Amino acid sequence: MPTYEEAQKILAENGQSHVLAFWDRLDEAGRANLLAQVAKIDFPTVARLRGVLADALSGAAAPAAAAPMEPAPVRVLEGAEREAAFARGEEELRAGRVGALVVAGGQGSRLGFDGPKGCYPVGPITDEPLFFFHARKLLALKRRYGRPVPFYVMTSETNDAATRAFFAEHRFFGLDERDVFFFVQGMWPALTPEGRIILDRPDHVFFGPDGHGGTLAALERSGALADMEARGLSSVFYFQVDNPMVDVADPAFVGFHAAAGADLSVKVCAKRDPQEGLGVAVRRGGRTEIVEYTEFTDEQKSERLPDGELRYKYGSVAIHVFSVPFLRREADAGLPIHVAHKKVPVVDASGATTKPSAPNAYKFEKFIFDALADAKVCPCVAFDREEEFSPVKNAEGADSPATCRADLSRKWARWLLAAGVPVPLDGRGYPLRRIEIDPAFAHDAAALAGRLAAPGAPAPDPAGDILLRDAD
Ligand code: UTP
Repeated sequence: MPTYEEAQKILAENGQSHVLAFWDRLDEAGRANLLAQVAKIDFPTVARLRGVLADALSGAAAPAAAAPMEPAPVRVLEGAEREAAFARGEEELRAGRVGALVVAGGQGSRLGFDGPKGCYPVGPITDEPLFFFHARKLLALKRRYGRPVPFYVMTSETNDAATRAFFAEHRFFGLDERDVFFFVQGMWPALTPEGRIILDRPDHVFFGPDGHGGTLAALERSGALADMEARGLSSVFYFQVDNPMVDVADPAFVGFHAAAGADLSVKVCAKRDPQEGLGVAVRRGGRTEIVEYTEFTDEQKSERLPDGELRYKYGSVAIHVFSVPFLRREADAGLPIHVAHKKVPVVDASGATTKPSAPNAYKFEKFIFDALADAKVCPCVAFDREEEFSPVKNAEGADSPATCRADLSRKWARWLLAAGVPVPLDGRGYPLRRIEIDPAFAHDAAALAGRLAAPGAPAPDPAGDILLRDAD
């Protein structure tokens, strides 16, 4: 921790002396807090953020007239091609060359849950949390292929301790704790239009997360990337914490990526409707890009082909496979920084914190999909959202806990029906009883049919709730 004199010097050198404005009014503990905050500020990065902000405000960063874009080609894996990709993925898993990375550093503000989002209960019967479903899939893969799929969990400063404690409390959901690697994403200060760091309390600097693109730098900084290399991983399956339907390290996707020699592969699904807020994979200026839905005009969003399909039909839901050498290259190269005008709490002259009613400051973020610009081979592969995607984003309505539980139940009902269990459904295919299947009991329809056909298997009662859990 710097001394007061050291803090004063470095802040003055960087034009941020106002950070010590309340020093004389702080008690011992407050002064220690403030010096710890100063120690956290990465001044070279702040200088870079100031440059990004100056360019943004002067218009120098405005994109040149965008080149025309077209939808990126999308592969639908079927038949022999799917089987070959699946077999290749199984080979990768059997050789222990695949890892999994979940980004769980977000604030979950729309959900309004007090705690890490991964702890949110989604099991329709047991209330098991999001982390349970992810971890149990990795346990199923380990049992099936004989090698662990190391699990890299990105947290934030705000939720890191709670996330680690939660895994420990749940005995890592059956995983070997040596195969779980927590790492913390970076935090950046916000800036005023003049490039000044903001105090949100007299002894505290406002920091915000550096975005999901911060994953790449955080992997490097934390040693997680070195761990991947030391374990001989060749690829890493990347996903978001809020989607318990995700088919983690899905062999067909992993195998397709490996066989294609891809740097970064992108899973895409058909959008629910033209307005759904998913980024879209496009080709522009000879490159694949994910363009955020806010960049599309309403006309582009609803443009249709002669066969009636949406022209920009497929959206990205942030399910990727990265090759490990590509992660290394990107961690070294760095991603572009985006700036957004936001509301940031700020301390007033009296030392009280005020929450602005309009944007008052600039926050900075990196986006993971910007790595696509450097990827030489970056295929887009389609998946069926009814099987693999139902995120918990909002407290109510679309993409909420209620829709997620219903979608999970509907998927498990399909698996049970395929295994010969006569589950009663409503007119829209949702089961009339509650269903829950532990991924370690069965991670797909074929595994479920196998488990239920085995001697001594449980006999689900279609007239009641169906809960199938692994003994472990
Ligand atoms: P979202 O953009 O949905 O954000 O993140 P969120 O924080 O979960 O929810 P809101 O927007 O505040 O309501 C998508 C995924 O990216 C992770 C989140 O944890 C989630 O898995 N994420 C997001 C990070 O890990 N770090 C970030 O800085 C932002």
